[in-house]
Amino acid sequence: MKILVVGGGGREHALCWKIKQSMLVKEVYCSPGNGGTALISQNIPIKAEDVNGIVDFARESKIDLVVIGPEAPLNLGLVDMLKREGIMAFGPSKGAAMLEGSKVFAKNLMKKYNIPTADFEIFSDPDRAKKYLLNLKKTPVVIKADGLAAGKGVYVCKSIDEAINAIDDIMVKKIFGSAGERILIEEFLEGEEASFLVFTDGKTVLPMDSSQDHKRVFDNDEGPNTGGMGAYSPAPVVTEEVYNKVMEKIIYPTISGMEKEGHPFKGVLYAGLMIKNNEPYVLEFNTRFGDPETQPLLVRIKNDIVPIIIGCIDGNLHNEYLLWEQKHAVCVVIASGGYPGEYKKGFEIRGLDQIDDDNVYIFHAGTKLIDGKIYTDGGRVLGVTALGETIKTAIDNAYRAVDKISFENMHYRKDIGKRAIDRF
Ligand code: AMP
Ligand code: GLY
Repeated sequence: MKILVVGGGGREHALCWKIKQSMLVKEVYCSPGNGGTALISQNIPIKAEDVNGIVDFARESKIDLVVIGPEAPLNLGLVDMLKREGIMAFGPSKGAAMLEGSKVFAKNLMKKYNIPTADFEIFSDPDRAKKYLLNLKKTPVVIKADGLAAGKGVYVCKSIDEAINAIDDIMVKKIFGSAGERILIEEFLEGEEASFLVFTDGKTVLPMDSSQDHKRVFDNDEGPNTGGMGAYSPAPVVTEEVYNKVMEKIIYPTISGMEKEGHPFKGVLYAGLMIKNNEPYVLEFNTRFGDPETQPLLVRIKNDIVPIIIGCIDGNLHNEYLLWEQKHAVCVVIASGGYPGEYKKGFEIRGLDQIDDDNVYIFHAGTKLIDGKIYTDGGRVLGVTALGETIKTAIDNAYRAVDKISFENMHYRKDIGKRAIDRF
């Protein structure tokens, strides 16, 4: 088979790496890819959002299967477009991708099917939203833009003034464009977060092990939100009791609800959870693999994922299974100093050839390969991922490798996985 992976982050490098190991696969392409995917597959210089360009390339190059990493092309209908060409595509249809593409759609679905989530109100008029806030008086409060905002459309506000400023940003200044035509005002939930991802063909569900992201840029969860500064799997906050509740109260009702709404969901469904007193609540749905959660998850999956991906597309997922490495995995993201704000790129990355440990996998994100050397080319640069018999050894293995890597102004968190140690 010829497989095209769409995207250019650490998640896509990990997907190319895992897919390449499949006996079913002859060639792997990645569009646009990065310096890491260039080493193991063929990069195609087409942006993930250029859905017409991707369809043309897939048709002309006789690609058998397209695996889509990021949310933007899913929301542009890439899966439907490829399907019309007779090309297998992994991910939800445009209609089903609304579960991530519209927070209003997702919240209404959760309300209709009694899926546990924070209480909320929907507004399309900023004055009404502000009036509601002034009567609410309860803080913190969460303000969310309805549409896709590259992970920046959520404001956790400590005061009503802050919340009013958030409404002005989203609805008056329109900093996220049409994604801010509607907003949600949400109850603030306390607890510990976890990521719960499942494969599904719209009927059968094949759950992955739990994982946990680290969203803030600095240690101890301080500083602004990022795409994710590190992750580990499994996440001990998802006990067996919590796992069963997530499946019964969240995953199955969502999959059956989407079918009833006329949008059967195929692909990876990712529930971002808040867990309080062993009760899970949905913070958000993503309709794709998480980044960086995919990196520790994929190094723990022992069997071929290509038949699972095909099973999700053709409705035969009931014949598939997942075999897990009973070890712990940790991914430490190394970023460009300044990220998620402004940062410089184009610095040479040194030390990658010094890493010689079978437990360590280096997944590239914002990197570029030029004349055999690797340079920084984005905010999140590398995901240093390691396995270990315990969470502690996995963390030690990852940071031992991180210590060997250097580039100008590099930044990483030093506390990835610490919360899991405290729980085990
Ligand atoms: P989201 O993109 O919806 O996952 O939101 C980004 C981050 O904002 C989450 O990972 C949480 O840390 C936080 N968040 C979102 N919604 C809530 C909520 N209702 N209560 C508390 N924190 C929230
Ligand atoms: N790690 C969060 C996400 O993929 O959205």
